Amino acid sequence: MSARVGIGVVGCGTISRTYLENLPRIPGFDVVACGDLDVGRARAAADAAGVPHAGGPEDVIGRPDVDIVVNLTVPAAHAEVGLAALRAGHHVYGEKPLARSRAEADLLVSAAEQAGRRLGSAPDTFLGAGVQTALRLVRDGAIGRPVSAIACFQDPGPDRWHPAPEFLFAAGAGALLDMGPYYLTALTVLLGPVRRVAAMEREGAAERVVASGPQAGHRFAVEVPTHTSAVLELASGAVATTVFSFDSPRKRHGFLEIGGTEATLRLPDPNRFDGPLRLCPAGTDEWREVPTEGARLGRGLGVAELAEAIAAERPHRANAQVATHVLDVAAAVAESGARRRFVDVTSGFAAQEPLDPAWAPGEGDAAREGSLLQ
Ligand SMILES: NC(=O)c1ccc[n+]([C@@H]2O[C@H](COP(=O)([O-])OP(=O)(O)OC[C@H]3O[C@@H](n4cnc5c(N)ncnc54)[C@H](O)[C@@H]3O)[C@@H](O)[C@H]2O)c1
Repeated sequence: MSARVGIGVVGCGTISRTYLENLPRIPGFDVVACGDLDVGRARAAADAAGVPHAGGPEDVIGRPDVDIVVNLTVPAAHAEVGLAALRAGHHVYGEKPLARSRAEADLLVSAAEQAGRRLGSAPDTFLGAGVQTALRLVRDGAIGRPVSAIACFQDPGPDRWHPAPEFLFAAGAGALLDMGPYYLTALTVLLGPVRRVAAMEREGAAERVVASGPQAGHRFAVEVPTHTSAVLELASGAVATTVFSFDSPRKRHGFLEIGGTEATLRLPDPNRFDGPLRLCPAGTDEWREVPTEGARLGRGLGVAELAEAIAAERPHRANAQVATHVLDVAAAVAESGARRRFVDVTSGFAAQEPLDPAWAPGEGDAAREGSLLQ
């Protein structure tokens, strides 16, 4: 890509380290500024990553050399920061979930439309070699007609390791919205949108205790359910069984399996960009590993694909339609759990073509001189 892509990062907490390591590796990308409510944290992140400017969010939003604002704040600030950045004329790519609620997501989508700017959202793990190879297999008929799926994430909870885990037990998180988006995005990109859900949820403990970092020992209230079991009926007729839990003494991460009329496909952990992809033909117990092909950058892949899509004037893949659908499914699950009844999901998204296995970030068909905002 010959376009220079100016990146401004807002939110310089735990996950920003990964982005600040990966984004400068993308050819043409230039991280020009970091901002956080905690200006000291922004300065430390900028110093560690060699980013020239740091300050508050207002020192990033509105900078003429920032094309894309990468929003790595907590879910409670996703809408506020995203709206400010879109209204200032930037494209925005944010961490998951897109927002805490459908209403907040709608505000973001309208603001992007009004500003004529792009809105992208994590997860972007589905753009990695693992899910993209699976997408090519499913499209090529390797498993026949998809019939069922099982998705499972079980863990004792992020209060065990995150230095500031309160937000992970508040609106916009819980296991359903913190980890669910990886599984629900992979499932729906592979098999199409969800039409109806039936769910049960529970809260394992009213309080949690921070286990690590400077706040260790601090107790805080749990505000959302932390264990969710949901059955999802897809528009295709396939049925997925899902478990997302922060209440499990046993860790079981990354289980995602799709059953078809001809074979079963076991995917790599959808919170990772790659990993073993296995296929077992119907009527056998013989799993074979399928070599995966595709991009391996890690977090930031969605920002790279977004930048190329803007320059090439085509839709981007880690987009607000997909993220809104995932948020909608999660809202329907929460409503079903609370009311103990089936809940319909009405949103959808355009089916996506698999990425070219040879695609590498920054080397796409998007070459265009100058800023993405022109
Ligand atoms: N931690 C992880 O391993 C991880 C992995 C994948 C995705 N994520 C996602 O990334 C996002 C951030 O998670 P984190 O773990 O880095 O959280 P964190 O609490 O470690 O960092 C969030 C940062 O955002 C800042 N912030 C909050 N509100 C702000 C605002 N209005 N303006 C500017 N800065 C603001 C905070 O001061 C903090 O420095 C979340 O959406 C989370 O789901 C986290």
